[in-house]
Amino acid sequence: MNTHSEIAPALLLETVILAVRTAGNHAQQNRHRKADTVMVAAHDVKLQLDLECQEIIWKIVRTHFPTHAILAEESADKGQPADDPHQSPYTWIIDPIDGTVNFSHGLPWWCCSVAVSYKGKTVAAAVYAPATNELFTAACGGTACCNGTPITVSPVKTLNEAMVLTGLDQKFSEKDQRLMRFLAISDTVQKARVIGAAALDMCRVAAGQSDGYFEAGIYTWDVAAAGLIVELAGGRVETLANPSPHRLIYMATNGHIHEKLKNLIAGLHYKKTG
Ligand code: IPD
Ligand code: CA
Ligand code: CA
Repeated sequence: MNTHSEIAPALLLETVILAVRTAGNHAQQNRHRKADTVMVAAHDVKLQLDLECQEIIWKIVRTHFPTHAILAEESADKGQPADDPHQSPYTWIIDPIDGTVNFSHGLPWWCCSVAVSYKGKTVAAAVYAPATNELFTAACGGTACCNGTPITVSPVKTLNEAMVLTGLDQKFSEKDQRLMRFLAISDTVQKARVIGAAALDMCRVAAGQSDGYFEAGIYTWDVAAAGLIVELAGGRVETLANPSPHRLIYMATNGHIHEKLKNLIAGLHYKKTG
C-alpha cells in the first residue's frame, strides 16, 4: 500500500492549525457559557460549545478540502464510520473540545484536537490549548513543535522516576480491573496523575513534562493528533487493544519506559502490598 500522502503534510497542517485555533479561540472567548449543556449524564456532559466548535472545524475542512472524509466526535455516535461521500483516502479526525468536563468547571486543562490521516495513518496534527496559549503541531517529515519550537520527550528511563498521566473511564472496564491498573501504576511510578484531557496529557509526554500516558476506553479522536505529536517528538505510541470501533486501550510514552509500563499494565511485575 502506498502510504505517501499526495498532499504535502505541511500544507495539510496549515488548515489543521487554522481549524484548532479558530475553534479553540471560540470556546475560550465563550467560556462564560460553560454551563450551557445539551446533555448531562453520569460522569459526563456535552456542551453547546462542543457542537459549535465541531461545526467551525467542519466548515473549515469542507472549505479547504471538500472531498475529504470527516470523523468527528459529536457526530460519530461512537461506532459509526466517517462521513465519506467521496471515498477519500484522507480522513479528518476531530475532537472539538477534549476535556469538556474540565472546561465545564472552569478548569483550564482542555484543548481542541484535529488530525488528518492518509490511508489510516496520521500525517498532520495539531492540539491547541487556548487557556495556556500552547499550540502543539506535527506533520510527517517534520518535527513536533510547541508554539513553533521543537519539543522532545524526556530521557527518564525507569518507572520510579516517571510521571504517568492516566484516565479512569467509569463505563469502560470492570471497577476492579480499573482500580488494579491504577494501583499498579501509582504504587510503582514516582507520581500518577488523572487530569482529564487525553490529547493534552499526551502532548505533555511529547514535551518531556511527563513520561507516559495510559488509558483504557479512549477513542480514536482523543489520540489521533497527539499520537503523531508524541512520535515526532521521539516517543512511542501503541494501541494495546481495539475492543470496539474507535475505542482503544492505548499508551504513549517517551519510549524508554514503554515496555516497563506495558508489562505493569498487563499485570506483570506488580504485587500489591499493604
Ligand atoms: C475525554 C477526556 C478524558 C478521558 C476520556 C475522554 P472528552 O474526552 O480526554 O481525559 O479520560 O476518556 O473521553 O469527552 O472531554 O472529549
Ligand atoms: Ca476527547
Ligand atoms: Ca470531546
